[in-house]
Amino acid sequence: MSKFFKKKDNQEAEEKAFKARKVRLISRLRGVKDILPDEHKYWSLVVKKAAELSRAYGFKRMDTPVLESLELYERSSGRASDIVTKEMFSFVDKNGEKIALRPEATPGIVRSYIEHGLFNLPQPVKLFWLGPVFRHDKPQAGRFRQFSQFDLENIGEASPVADAELMAIAYYFFSELQLEVIIQINSVGCAVCRKEYLVKLENFYKERGRRTKLCQTCKKRLVKNPLRLLDCKEKRCQEMAIGAPQLVDSLCEDCRNHFIKVLEYLDELNIPYNLNPTLVRGLDYYNRTVFEIWPAFADPPDRSVRERAGDSAGKPVEEQSRQNALGGGGRYDGLVEYLGGRPTPACGFGIGVERVILKIKEKNIPLRDEEKGDLFLAHLGDQARRKIMVLFEELRKNGFKVRQAFAKDSLKSQLEMANQAGVKYTLILGQKEIMDGTILIRDMESGLQEVVDYKKVSAEIEKRLGSPSNKL
Ligand code: HAM
Repeated sequence: MSKFFKKKDNQEAEEKAFKARKVRLISRLRGVKDILPDEHKYWSLVVKKAAELSRAYGFKRMDTPVLESLELYERSSGRASDIVTKEMFSFVDKNGEKIALRPEATPGIVRSYIEHGLFNLPQPVKLFWLGPVFRHDKPQAGRFRQFSQFDLENIGEASPVADAELMAIAYYFFSELQLEVIIQINSVGCAVCRKEYLVKLENFYKERGRRTKLCQTCKKRLVKNPLRLLDCKEKRCQEMAIGAPQLVDSLCEDCRNHFIKVLEYLDELNIPYNLNPTLVRGLDYYNRTVFEIWPAFADPPDRSVRERAGDSAGKPVEEQSRQNALGGGGRYDGLVEYLGGRPTPACGFGIGVERVILKIKEKNIPLRDEEKGDLFLAHLGDQARRKIMVLFEELRKNGFKVRQAFAKDSLKSQLEMANQAGVKYTLILGQKEIMDGTILIRDMESGLQEVVDYKKVSAEIEKRLGSPSNKL
């Protein structure tokens, strides 16, 4: 008893001393996340699925630096885009160079494609990219200042089959993660047909005093970037956008044919999509196909595609989906040339990993626990501990998933840990077994224990669990 009180007194004294130091705790910055061990199983799953699908469709992994010159984004994402005007983390470095933390992957990937002469390889070059990006967004659920994107870029392919392939991969990615999504799709045409469309759009907003009813941001957009009037988040602007002329009605013949082909491929593959006339995306480099991947609750997938076309604009659920899009992308045929390369068609998408993980958690989808082991090694006494440290390495090298608690002394707590690790068998080594040259195999479900020859333990385990895979 007295020992207990002494310990408690010590603890209290330590706590008091700790508080007296008045050390200000440093917390993480707003809008960024720590990924603790418990959450990593979701990351492993998402990264594994992304890598698996990318490989199957011939996309090869590449990475680019977090830091790039600020000009890269000003020139590609667009000087008037939200990303460049409001959201970029940028600074001037010690040499006076203007630097940005990448707010998206596409410009860096295209820069790298040009810089390393990837245009000399057989085209298209299909690239898979996964990494952190940074946007000074207003933090809220599903919106972070540092988040990760899984990107696929197909550079050098003009055929509409490339656009459809990307949307199909995005759809399979979500459905294989048991998440229901719907692709929102539109065409923003090419420089020629969009120019004509923009005149119609501007006239529409100038007519009947509509301009005066727009929000302040849209009034500026009308001059700088009228296309963005269509995807404003303000209700009154959305209501007006419903009646606005539609881009798809103004497409030139080539753009229309391209769009029809993309839709035909999607129909063939049975990919659920919604023709969304107000989807324009917030980045300057897109032409022709643009798309976003939204959670399916906004639009039940059992309704026919034609019936769904354009009927959901303005609903609160749609607004929720738009702001929490799981992914987005499109064609960007002018970007390579704009950044100094040869004229090269291209398309791609980016998926927000954190948003995917939030959805998996929301749906309580059970995950396979990769941390689970096959076997646990328990010991009694220091001599046994030394021996099982050697045995652990032997079994691990043979390909078994072995778990241990070398630092623990009590057999009871080791068995508890073995239970938590979900192993089928625990090997127990004590003084008696060392003397006899044996070891105990305990079946964790039945509790039955069997004595086996220490030298034959690996073969015994293999007999029970099957031979492990030694592949890297
Ligand atoms: P984006 O639509 O700006 O496209 O971003 C892609 C995805 O990143 C979004 O759909 C969303 O899931 C996720 N995301 C965006 N902002 C945040 C945030 N603040 N917090 C958490 N997740 C977020 C692009 O970035 C284009 N580069 C995609 C692309 C690739 N287009 C062609 N190729």
